[in-house]
Amino acid sequence: MAAIVVEGGHPLDGDIHASGAKNAVLPILMACILADGPCEISNVPYLQDVTTTNELLGQMGVELGINEKMHVLVDATALNNHCAPYELVKTMRASILVLGPLVARHGQARVSLPGGCAIGSRPVNLHLMGLEAMGARIEVRDGYIHARADRLKGARIVLDTVTVTGTENLMMAAVLAKGTTVIENAAMEPEVVDLARFLQSMGARIEGAGTSTITIEGVDELHGTEYAVLPDRIETGTFLVAGAMTGGRVRVNATRPDTLEAVLGKLHEAGAELEIGENFIELNMHGRRPRAVDIATAPFPAFPTDMQAQFTALNAIAEGAAQVVENVFENRFMHVQELMRLGADIRLNGNTAMVRGVDKLYGAPLMATDLRASASLVLAGLVAEGETVIDRVYHIDRGYECIEEKLAQLGARIRRLPTTRAA
Ligand code: UD1
Repeated sequence: MAAIVVEGGHPLDGDIHASGAKNAVLPILMACILADGPCEISNVPYLQDVTTTNELLGQMGVELGINEKMHVLVDATALNNHCAPYELVKTMRASILVLGPLVARHGQARVSLPGGCAIGSRPVNLHLMGLEAMGARIEVRDGYIHARADRLKGARIVLDTVTVTGTENLMMAAVLAKGTTVIENAAMEPEVVDLARFLQSMGARIEGAGTSTITIEGVDELHGTEYAVLPDRIETGTFLVAGAMTGGRVRVNATRPDTLEAVLGKLHEAGAELEIGENFIELNMHGRRPRAVDIATAPFPAFPTDMQAQFTALNAIAEGAAQVVENVFENRFMHVQELMRLGADIRLNGNTAMVRGVDKLYGAPLMATDLRASASLVLAGLVAEGETVIDRVYHIDRGYECIEEKLAQLGARIRRLPTTRAA
């Protein structure tokens, strides 16, 4: 199993480009199922989750290719298999995003029920409730969701929890339904807006994406399109935190600062000097140590749960103490025990972590547990004295494109080992 080795103590200084957003490209690739012609998607990040999505679509009969501009071509007109098997869904929960498009476009789907996951139970009841409200007949048996429908019908759907992929699944189902669908308490995440814009470019009629009420007027068919994926706000935020933790200077180009307001507010509170342009963010700590900042995660536009682990790592070496409250997932503190192995002073109480900043962390072997937790361990490694070896980095490869190359470009001492030294 591959590992990442980080030698801490080198302030970052440099410029990088943000990659396309993982959480936008996955639903966009799945939404290609809805089109009657080929789609050309650009700014696609090279990630394991994208490979898994391509594998999933490929085994359904979708034709995939890459053109000379490195754009991904997706032609779903030959789709002939409506199943998302357990083997793929268990490696990527976002596979559930084929459910809405398959039922809307093909009237049937068989999608493995995602199991539990490292960060919480993560049910999909709201995806199913919304599809049923649109007229789909759903049965859960043999570990699979079996869904069937003639043409879906517009419906008013009130989500009792804000769900990102739930909102996306229902929006994708509604674009080909007969009549109007209104999704209340919809997720307002920028990735939901990006998917809506992609669907609109295929001819869908959607209003209100980015607010808590999305209205979709179903159309009879959607056409192929060309589309560039939104930059990744979580990747951007992760590199900025790396700059802040090391007392360095990091500029992220080709990003979207308007998608990162809560995170930038916290970096400012931590003492970072920020220069923000239309499509870049430059953070400079001028060698200073960050101040600890309280965090409470919640759906967009509040502070994102996908940045919680990185800020927990920042607080671990900051001046002062801070409280980190996780309100979205019930078990998203797997990184805490690992950070403590480096010498962090963190007390966990339910969904709250009390983090007291220490003067120094010390390198140690660590185990990555989930995607964002792994990123926080790499960040901690950047400031820990000596070497930190992070095992099971396949979690990181799911969501960060070329993380060690990008960090090395900023001056980090980081390398990948194909296999771990200690089994
Ligand atoms: C998406 C993101 C993930 C991010 C999360 C929260 C993708 C591919 N993944 O995950 O990176 O951390 O949003 O911002 O976009 N819930 C239910 N019933 C449902 C669905 C969700 O109770 O049917 C609950 C979940 O257990 C969780 C909360 O709603 O507590 C939010 O989860 P949700 O927004 O659905 O997360 P994902 O869409 O899976």
